[in-house]
Amino acid sequence: MPTPALTDLIDLGGKRALVTGGGKGIGAAIAARLREACAHVTVADLDPDAQASADAIGADFARCDITDASELARAVDAAAGDAGLDILVNNAGIFPTTGPVARVSDEFVHHMLDVNVRAQFSATREAADRMPRGGAIVNMASVAAIGGGANISAYAASKGAVVAMTRAHANELGPQGIRVNAIAPGIIDTPGVQEQLAPLRASGVDIDKRIAANPVGIAGQPDHIACGVLFLVSDLARFVSGHLLVIDGGSTA
Ligand SMILES: NC(=O)c1ccc[n+]([C@@H]2O[C@H](COP(=O)([O-])OP(=O)(O)OC[C@H]3O[C@@H](n4cnc5c(N)ncnc54)[C@H](O)[C@@H]3O)[C@@H](O)[C@H]2O)c1
Repeated sequence: MPTPALTDLIDLGGKRALVTGGGKGIGAAIAARLREACAHVTVADLDPDAQASADAIGADFARCDITDASELARAVDAAAGDAGLDILVNNAGIFPTTGPVARVSDEFVHHMLDVNVRAQFSATREAADRMPRGGAIVNMASVAAIGGGANISAYAASKGAVVAMTRAHANELGPQGIRVNAIAPGIIDTPGVQEQLAPLRASGVDIDKRIAANPVGIAGQPDHIACGVLFLVSDLARFVSGHLLVIDGGSTA
């Protein structure tokens, strides 16, 4: 079999992609890179302001809370169009501070798992059903799935489940030509992280130093993750499935 040209391997022209939580942070960077690689991109986000960021990169926008079955189905339908879907990036997720296990309520755990796990599962089910040519799915996990960490147990549990689900779906959907992979970002400087770390900043902790506390010594940026997604959904990774790609500047090394 001839080796494909590099430009063909990275070209997403003619492919249709859905990025959940693509309005800001990591999701917005992913949507931008997929557009740059010429994919047709639909951004699904519960925040109506995400319309503006989608417009800015020439992406479509579907207002959608991924935990709502009918809103999710509408977003997947819109992204697939008549041609069908090729790429799903299950990026939307929440990471509210949990605190010590004794203070974490069942309702809190339920909500965390509903957004970070159950809704990703539903999105994969809906998207895979609309991938007539096969496709690629990337699930956003976290280094919390590997390293645990104190006071984030519900979040760590949700992201651990994402890793297990990724491997199971890779096995199950592979015969349909669908590759399923996950990314485990380290700390990435996003609006969500800034919000979480605001109380620490207020108490005098140097947040920027903390975000850059990894062996590479640079602050993790949304585009560092977007480049990993671009690799995993492109034909550069055509023999990669069920993989967890850690992108953390070496912090878990
Ligand atoms: N930033 C980090 O350090 C980091 C590290 C590891 C993993 N992650 C994961 O990366 C993903 C993105 O993180 P981020 O830092 O960019 O977050 P962010 O909070 O900055 O942005 C998240 C986006 O998702 C949207 N969203 C949230 N809940 C949604 C829902 N129910 N339906 C639709 N859209 C929803 C928000 O409106 C927002 O636009 C998450 O899954 C997160 O757990 C982030």
